[in-house]
Amino acid sequence: EDTHKIRASLLEWYDENQRDLPWRTSTKKSENGENVQEEEKRAYGVWVSEVMLQQTRVQTVIDYYNRWMLKWPTLQHLSQASLEEVNEMWAGLGYYRRARFLLEGAKMIVAEGSEFPNTVFALRKVPGIGDYTAGAIASIAFKQVVPVVDGNVVRVLARLKAISANPKDKTTVKNFWKLAAQLVDPSRPGDFNQSLMELGATLCTPLNPNCTSCPVSSQCRALHNSRNDESVMVMDY
Ligand code: ADE
Repeated sequence: EDTHKIRASLLEWYDENQRDLPWRTSTKKSENGENVQEEEKRAYGVWVSEVMLQQTRVQTVIDYYNRWMLKWPTLQHLSQASLEEVNEMWAGLGYYRRARFLLEGAKMIVAEGSEFPNTVFALRKVPGIGDYTAGAIASIAFKQVVPVVDGNVVRVLARLKAISANPKDKTTVKNFWKLAAQLVDPSRPGDFNQSLMELGATLCTPLNPNCTSCPVSSQCRALHNSRNDESVMVMDY
């Protein structure tokens, strides 16, 4: 019912409207006959892009991502890099810890046999990979049916389900992970997760959300209730 409608509407919208981003290229083409190598190559790209995207806007990340992948096209290449090279490549992105974690993570994975961890549990053991990055890599690269929750996703889900809660409360975030886990589409988890992030970044924005263009406006309880519950619509996560 509602869940199925939300999944279908979001995926259809995402297929039509997703931004053309360099780390997304292979996802669709490799639907059939995919091998482990292709998955692992994509996992590396998703990892690099998601770490870059953590504090930086998409438009800025694109150039950094392309330069990074030219210099270190695979995990093996990155594992041979020096911290100086990595920091130099990162210059301007800020939070240099993120670059160091990528290098340390690459070294660790290669040292342990080069098999890219493909579950949330295994990914969480890599330096710098937290719940968000683990969920993103597992779902986008390895098609594991797991949720991903960032600030955009919290805002989208809060509106969709008209949840008003204190975003600074730890149990609030936990509840959004639970909700996202129930909602994630089992057949296309990576695309579904990205559709939520994409919706939050483009239409379901903190201020002046573009509800008239939204694929799930008819399922959105905040929109439905907007007269009674304006706080949900303007809640800034
Ligand atoms: N922001 C961070 N990661 C993203 C992704 N994979 N798609 C859209 N927006 C994002």
